Amino acid sequence: MDESHIEGDLVNILFTEEQIQSRLGELAAEIEAEYEGKDILLVGVLRGAVMVMADLARHFSRHLEMDWMAVSSYGSGTKSSGVVRILKDLDTDISGRHVIIVEDIIDTGLTLSWLVSNLTSRAPASVEICTLLRKPEALQMSVDVKWVGYDIPNEFVVGYGLDYAERYRNLRSIGTLAPHVYS
Ligand code: XMP
Ligand code: MG
Repeated sequence: MDESHIEGDLVNILFTEEQIQSRLGELAAEIEAEYEGKDILLVGVLRGAVMVMADLARHFSRHLEMDWMAVSSYGSGTKSSGVVRILKDLDTDISGRHVIIVEDIIDTGLTLSWLVSNLTSRAPASVEICTLLRKPEALQMSVDVKWVGYDIPNEFVVGYGLDYAERYRNLRSIGTLAPHVYS
């Protein structure tokens, strides 16, 4: 594999760096307007949300705090089961805080449903969700996702934090992989 040209492994670019940044700017502006006069705690879900968190946060012109959680969801293959284990918990006491969960992608939404009820049990002032991408299945989930960057088709995408076997997270754009990568 030619490690120096990973962008060439993308067969179809869904979102360029410019599109992603411009959409994150819009989302940050909407969130700022909604939380006027309130403290914000962004909670990023490791590892996929690292890029979204870093760029979304930098589109804000006000103070906010960031914290991180790492969870693993038990499941068969690529589908999550909704049974979740905390690998790294928050360092912040979120009681009375306005929490916004920052995600890279919501597929079935099972992991997120679990996360929302887990965080809700800690008596925050509010819990909302902001995700860059959402797949069709997530529309059936009971949890309301307040901010969505883009709704995408049911395809496996990589880049901008999203991985295939831990690779491609460092791409600036998001796309689908060429078939030769899987073989
Ligand atoms: P849920 O619980 O919503 O799981 O089914 C969401 C998690 O599944 C992973 N996922 C993807 N990862 N490209 C990826 O790199 C994809 O197209 C994709 N779809 C789902 C991801 O870890 C996400 O947090
Ligand atoms: Mg993730």
